[in-house]
This record gives sequence, structure tokens and C-alpha cells, in this order.
Amino acid sequence: MRYMTNLVAADGAILDRILDDTHAIWSDGLSRHAYGRLYAAQVGTPWGRTHLNRFALVDGDEVRASAKLYRFAAVLDGKPIQVAGIGAVFTPPASRGRGAARELIARLLERATNDGADLALLFSEIGPDYYARLGFQTVAIADRQLRVTESTRYGAPMTMVRGGDDRDLNDIVTMDAARAAAYRFHLLRDRDLVQFAIARKRMLAGLGPLGARTLHFFIAEEGASAVAYVVISAQQNMWTVQEVGDRDPSGARAGAILQALIARAPAEKRPAIRAWLPDGFLPPQVTIVAETPSKDLMMVRPLSARGTPAAPLMSPDILYWRGDAF
Ligand SMILES: CC(C)(COP(=O)(O)OP(=O)(O)OC[C@H]1O[C@@H](n2cnc3c(N)ncnc32)[C@H](O)[C@@H]1OP(=O)(O)O)[C@@H](O)C(=O)NCCC(=O)NCCS
Repeated sequence: MRYMTNLVAADGAILDRILDDTHAIWSDGLSRHAYGRLYAAQVGTPWGRTHLNRFALVDGDEVRASAKLYRFAAVLDGKPIQVAGIGAVFTPPASRGRGAARELIARLLERATNDGADLALLFSEIGPDYYARLGFQTVAIADRQLRVTESTRYGAPMTMVRGGDDRDLNDIVTMDAARAAAYRFHLLRDRDLVQFAIARKRMLAGLGPLGARTLHFFIAEEGASAVAYVVISAQQNMWTVQEVGDRDPSGARAGAILQALIARAPAEKRPAIRAWLPDGFLPPQVTIVAETPSKDLMMVRPLSARGTPAAPLMSPDILYWRGDAF
């Protein structure tokens, strides 16, 4: 059965309804109120204002399905491309199984293509099958579990480590871009996007129950510049590396920051550390102790000739930070 549906920007009462409905799945432990504030704060950042929208497929007063649409600049096989990111696809239970999500995704991609998008990107939480039927292909990303060798130079850090902040963003952009250039597919991350990615995790920690999550954003400083950095979300004893960088290809200073952070934790509570560490980036202090395919599946669908990979994308071809997944 077909409905007379319209694609509209999700705000006001429609947005409230969507947030009510999706809170149970995507709240990450936030109250309904905090969940709404987190979304409002994201779309209020300089990057979010211009690159993140939520759309709803409506039929009269009824929301049939909704999703977020992100716009990223990226590089594929040496060429700049535009990426349309689709996230938080949701159909209210009563409307499921009637093609609402399929129609919404088709209309969002049509819109994105008209706006110049070359590639659609999403992170599936429901396995590959649903999106494979819509033309998406899985690009396996490895979730790596890391062990950090503890420093023998206890109490004598060779690197000056301090909390990171906005003044470090330009240095982060520069070191990240230099590393990313070697990969076939990566985002082109400007200052605003890096700020967005870190702010989102910081707000998630800040809006949640006290102590449930913490964000560690630390840099190694030399002269007046940041020369390495880590962004880690900590939840109990689980650390998720959102992104990590080092001006030096070896990554020794990023490894030293990790050592300094570990040294602050009590010895009996060493954290489990996970990262989407790109192939070829392994600080000398770090060992990969286990590797599993990421639970959130990265999937792509070309929308133009430019957005068609020259050969299938594999894990070693990609630099994509966990903190940029949506
Ligand atoms: C996934 C979801 C958006 C699908 O919405 P929908 O409007 O019912 O989707 P469509 O009508 O386009 O497609 C329905 C088909 O998808 C299938 N499908 C639904 N969930 C699926 C899943 N988790 N894995 C594989 N197929 C799935 C249905 O079985 C149905 O198959 P059929 O056509 O053979 O009967 C909806 O189930 C939902 O909102 N789920 C909760 C939120 C969620 O997990 N979103 C995805 C985040 S990546």
C-alpha cells in the first residue's frame, strides 16, 4: 500500500515525537530530557548547524519514518568527494514492514545526489542484509583491542602532556590530514568537524549520570604546538579510543600519552582499550591483543562515478575514526 508522503525537516513537535520514540534505543543511558539536549547541542555547533539535518517522512500528522542526514567532505582514490551520511533510521513499530524506511532512504539519497553527494555512508547496527537490499556494501572495519606497555621510566615522562582544548584543533587537523593522505578513503576533517566530534562525546559524558562516562582529551605539547593527541571515552573499565594522532609517523608520542593516562589509573583497574586504529598506525608502546569485526558495520553505496571506488574498499584502505561514526 502506498501513502501520500512528504519529506520534511524534523523539528518542533515532529522532532519531539521522534526523540520520544527513539530514546529507548539510542539514549546511551541519558534521560529523555538529556537526550533531547544532546541532539539540540549537536545541531547547535558550528559544524552541526551546516552539516547535520534530521528528516521525517510524514503522512498527514503521522511520522512514517525518520533519519539523520550528514554531509561530509572526503577523499576517495585521491579525489575529493562529497559524502551523504545516513544515521538513526527509524520507523515507529506500527508502521514497520510497509517500505517506509526504504522510501525515506531513497528520497534522502535522491536529495543528497541533487546536492552533489558522490557516496552514501552509514553504520548499520542491524547487520548487513537490510541495507544490502538497498544497494549498500559492507566495508569491514576492525575493532582492535589494545594493550599499552607500561612505562619503565615511571615518574619521568619524556613528553609534556596536558588537557586538550580548542587552541589545539588546528594542530590536530594538520597531523590528522598528513596521516590520512596515505589511505584510499578518509574524511576531510576541518577544524569544525574535529570540534564537533570531540564536543559530541564530551556532551554525552557531561549529560549522563555523574561518573558513568568520562572523556579524556589529552595532547602532547612541544614548543607551543600539539604534536600528538588522544580522545578516549571511558565507561567503567572500558576505554574507547575515539581518535588518536601524532605528527610523527611512528606514533611514539601518542603512545606516551596513553602510558601517562594508564599510569594514573590504579594498577588493579587497568582498562580494556578498543580502537578503530587504522592499518599501519601502531605506536611502539601499543600491542594489538585481539581484533574483531566492528559491530557497527560501515556500509557504502556509490551515488556518482566519482564516488565509485576504483577497487573494492578493504580495511587497510580506510582511515575512519570511531568518533566520526554516526
Ligand atoms: C530497521 C527499520 C528502520 C526498518 O523500517 P521499515 O520501515 O519497517 O523497513 P522497510 O519497510 O523498508 O523494510 C522492511 C523489511 O526490512 C526487514 N528488516 C527489518 N529489520 C531488519 C533487520 N534488523 N535486519 C534485516 N532486515 C530487517 C523486514 O523484515 C522487512 O522485510 P520484508 O520486506 O522481507 O518483509 C525499523 O525496523 C526500525 O526502526 N528499527 C529500529 C531502529 C533501528 O534498528 N534502525 C536501524 C539502525 S542502523
